[in-house]
Amino acid sequence: MERIYLDNAATSFPKPPEVAEAVSRFMTSCGANTGRGSYRSAEEAEELVYGTRAMINDLFSGDHPRNVVFSSGITMSLNQLLYGILKSGDHILVSSFEHNAVMRPLTLLKEKRNVSFSLIPCNEEGLIERGTVEQSCLPLLKPETRAVMINHAGNVFGNIQPLEEIGRFCRKYGLLFFADTAQSAGVLEFDMQKMNLDALAFTGHKGLLGPQGIGGLVLRQRAAEMISPLIAGGTGSQSDLEEMPAFLPDRLEAGTLNLPGIAGLSVALSFLDKTGISKIRAHEQALTRIFLKELSPLAEKGLLRIPGPASVDARVGVVSVVTPGIDEALAAALLNERYGIEVRVGLHCAPRAHQAMGTFPGGTIRFSFGCFTKEEEVRLAAKALGEILTQPLE
Ligand SMILES: Cc1ncc(COP(=O)(O)O)c(C=O)c1O
Repeated sequence: MERIYLDNAATSFPKPPEVAEAVSRFMTSCGANTGRGSYRSAEEAEELVYGTRAMINDLFSGDHPRNVVFSSGITMSLNQLLYGILKSGDHILVSSFEHNAVMRPLTLLKEKRNVSFSLIPCNEEGLIERGTVEQSCLPLLKPETRAVMINHAGNVFGNIQPLEEIGRFCRKYGLLFFADTAQSAGVLEFDMQKMNLDALAFTGHKGLLGPQGIGGLVLRQRAAEMISPLIAGGTGSQSDLEEMPAFLPDRLEAGTLNLPGIAGLSVALSFLDKTGISKIRAHEQALTRIFLKELSPLAEKGLLRIPGPASVDARVGVVSVVTPGIDEALAAALLNERYGIEVRVGLHCAPRAHQAMGTFPGGTIRFSFGCFTKEEEVRLAAKALGEILTQPLE
C-alpha cells in the first residue's frame, strides 16, 4: 500500500529533493559557524545566512534583511515577539483562530505581566468579515490596547483573514499589527508594507518547504526598535559586552543558528521563486475544490460536516471534517490502516478555533494538501472517507 500524505498543515512532505541535498552539502562541505571566524568557510556560512535573510525579506516585502531574525521555528519567534514587545498591563486583540503558539504565551503573559486579550468576532465560516473590521474591533479597544495579532490562515479550517483591512484599522488607531504566517507563507502572496504589518512570524517547514527547526521573525522598523530579547547569549559580535548587542539581528539571535536548516530553507525559497507562489496557490485551490465537491454528497446525506469557508478563495488547502456517525479518531485510523492515508485528528493545537466553530471538544479530521499533493490522492481520500462512512465496520 502506498503512503498518501495529507498532513501538510503539520509539516510539508515531500520537500523538493534539493532541500535535503543542501542540508547535507552544508554539513559535509562547509560546516562552519557564523560570526565566529574569518576563514573562508565561515565567510561562506555568513553569505548563506545573509542571502537567506534577503530572500525572506523579499518574500514578505520587509524593510531590510537585517530585520529578519532566525530562530528554531515560529513557536520560538512568536514567544520572542509577544514577550519582547508586550508590557505590563497591555491588552491585545486576537482572532479566535490563534494557535497555542500564540495563546499559551499570552496565557503565561497574563500571569507574569497581567497582559489581557479580547477575541475579534467572526462569522459562521470563521472569517473576520471584509468591510466589518472597524465595526467589530472598535468596541473591543481599551486605553491599554497595544496590538492586534492574527493567524493569517487557520490551521484547522483553512480560513484566510483579511490582513490588509485589519492593517488599515491598526494604522488608523495606532496599534501594532502582528501576523502568524505558519499556514500562509509560501501559499499566499504577501506584502508587509501594504498590509501595514509591524511584524510577522514564519516557519520554514510548512508551505516554505524547508526542513524542520528553522523559522523566524520579520520586523518592520517600529517593532525592530522596540523589541527586547527573550533569550540572551553569545552572538560572536561585541563580545566585550555582557549585554546583548543593540543592533539586529544579533539582539535577538543568541547562540549558534541552525545553519543546515538555513541551507535547506535557502534552496526551498529558490524553488518557490522558480515555481511561483501563485501557481502553488492555484494547485492547492484546485485540489481543495475537488475534495469539497467529492465530499458534498456525503455532506448532503448528513454523514459529515465541513465547517469553514464554503469558497476556496477564502481558504488555504486545509479541510476539516466532522463525522457524526463515527468517532473521528477511529475514522482517521481506518483511513491509515486500510488506505495508507495520513491525516491528523483532534484539536490541532487550536482549541478556541473549535469553540468558535462548534467542533469543541470532539475535534475534526483534518486533510491538508501541499504543493506536491496529486489530484488522484485527493480523490482517493474522498472515496476512502466515503467508504468508511457508508460501509459498516468489519
Ligand atoms: C497557525 C500555526 N501557528 C503556529 C504553529 C507552530 O508551528 P511550529 O511547530 O513550526 O513552531 C503552527 C503549526 O502547526 C500553526 O499551524
